[in-house]
Amino acid sequence: MTILDTRVVPSAERTTRTRHYLMCAPIHFEVVYAINPWMDVSRPVHVEKAQVQWEVLRQTYLSLGHRVDLIEPVVGQPDMVFAANGGLVVGRRAYGARFRFPERAAEGEAYAAWLTGQGYRVATPANINEGEGDFLALGSMILAGTGFRTSIAAHIEAADALDRPVVSLELVDPRFYHLDVAIAVLDDGTGDTPADIAYYPGAFSRHSQRTLRDLFPDAIICSEADARVLGLNAVSDGRHVVLPSAAVGLAAALRGRGYVPVPVDLGEFLKSGGSVKCCTMELHR
Ligand code: ARG
Repeated sequence: MTILDTRVVPSAERTTRTRHYLMCAPIHFEVVYAINPWMDVSRPVHVEKAQVQWEVLRQTYLSLGHRVDLIEPVVGQPDMVFAANGGLVVGRRAYGARFRFPERAAEGEAYAAWLTGQGYRVATPANINEGEGDFLALGSMILAGTGFRTSIAAHIEAADALDRPVVSLELVDPRFYHLDVAIAVLDDGTGDTPADIAYYPGAFSRHSQRTLRDLFPDAIICSEADARVLGLNAVSDGRHVVLPSAAVGLAAALRGRGYVPVPVDLGEFLKSGGSVKCCTMELHR
């Protein structure tokens, strides 16, 4: 075929915007309970390996020019390394997390306290939600996942708390229990280029697939193979897309769209059902 897709933004036009991230060192990271299909308590985490992988991710962000703040890890909270789940921050406002499982409950307060200490106005949630695990800020709106962790009531609460329209999407495959393992935001649409995402349709109910098709007709469609290695659990600054190294098909598709894939190996975190984005809360400006 010789048809040119004129909707694709050439690489020279993909621009970086400096980001502000929050991470939590995997000091207490381990798999001692199983709250998603990836977690198997009989498969131990290699602690030193995990710490090296996490440090490489942190250094990657710093070398791309981004700001990375750190929150103090809490003893007895092995999943606190997944900073994305600690809340949703947009501007100076934040919507706090309220975890589905009691094992992670204490993380909500720790993240809310950190955000409050940094001067964010944190709305205390009445409804179950797992922060940026299920909420993705995009342009003026928020994409919100439900089905496994975050409740629909929380979608409405977040819309109120942050004064942003929320689009609810239903997740149906337990392997993809959070929205951030089913959709990657590539361009948040707040600059000169349009909002752009990649997603794995099989993670969504039929009506949510329809919603995604209507909203993002030009989205990158991620294969099951790439989704299964949590390829969509990626972090983009508008140009560089930091993603799990095993997602080779997705990396090629990104390159074809003018993005610069930055592969990292977070294999130890896959044992807990997490990867790049899970380890990263973006404090959206
Ligand atoms: N073990 C964690 C859980 O099941 C993994 C969280 C991954 N975080 C994410 N943002 N998808 O809750």
